[in-house]
Amino acid sequence: MMQAIDALLEAVGPTHDDRQSAMLEHAVAEGFPTVGPGAGRVLRLLARLADAREVFEFGSGFGYSASWLARGMSDGRIVLTEYDEDELALAREFLDNAYDVTFAFESGDAMAAVERYDGPFDVVLLDHEAARYAPALARVRSKLRPGGVVVADNVASGPVDTEALVAMLGAESDPETHRREASWDVDTTTEGAAAYLGLVRADPGFETTLLPVEEGLAVSVRVE
Ligand SMILES: C[S@@+](CC[C@H](N)C(=O)[O-])C[C@H]1O[C@@H](n2cnc3c(N)ncnc32)[C@H](O)[C@@H]1O
Repeated sequence: MMQAIDALLEAVGPTHDDRQSAMLEHAVAEGFPTVGPGAGRVLRLLARLADAREVFEFGSGFGYSASWLARGMSDGRIVLTEYDEDELALAREFLDNAYDVTFAFESGDAMAAVERYDGPFDVVLLDHEAARYAPALARVRSKLRPGGVVVADNVASGPVDTEALVAMLGAESDPETHRREASWDVDTTTEGAAAYLGLVRADPGFETTLLPVEEGLAVSVRVE
C-alpha cells in the first residue's frame, strides 16, 4: 500500500528538475539523509502558500531541501546552515545561480547562525538534530511572522521510536516530565521529537498537524 501511495505521490508531481535528480543520486550514492522527494514537494507547496520571501533552514546538508523550497519561491532568500564544510561547499555548487532566489550559506552551528538574522521568516525548516528542535523553536519563534510556517522533519518514524512517542505525547503532563517519571528508556531523537511536539502543540501561537510523509513532518502555522 505504502509503495502504491509513494508512486501515486510521484505521479501527481511535481517531479525533480535535472539538478535535483543529480542531488538525489548523490544522496543515494553517499547514503546521505535528505528530507526525500515527498517531503520536498510539501516544502515547495508550503513556500508557495506562504508566499515565502525569507526562509531559514536548521541543517541543510548539501542543499536538497533548500532546492525544493527555492522552487516554491519567485524571489527572496534562503539561509542554509551546516556544520560540515564539505556539504556546504557542495550546496554552493548545486545551488548558486540555480533558482530565482538568493542563498546565504552559514557554516557552523545553526543555533548560533539564527541569532545573526532578524527575520521576519516566512518558512523555517528544522532538520538538524531532533534533540535541538525545541530550543531552535524557542530561538526562532519571535522571528516568525504571523501566518509563517515551521516544518520539523523526522518526527514520526525513521530514527524515531513511534510507539514510545505516542505514549509520551499521550501523557497528561509534559512529555519530558512524564518520561522522567516513567523512566522510559528512549533514544535522544525520540525524546527530542516528543519535547518538540509537546512544546509546539501547547503553544497557543501555533496550529500544528503532522503529515505522515517520508519520516513525518510536523507543520505548524503561526496564528498569533
Ligand atoms: C538530515 S541532514 C539535513 C538534510 C537537508 N535538510 C536536506 O534535506 O537536504 C542534517 C544535517 O544537519 C547538520 N547539522 C546537525 N546539527 C547541526 C547544527 N546544530 N548546526 C548546523 N548543522 C547541523 C548535519 O551535519 C547534517 O548535514
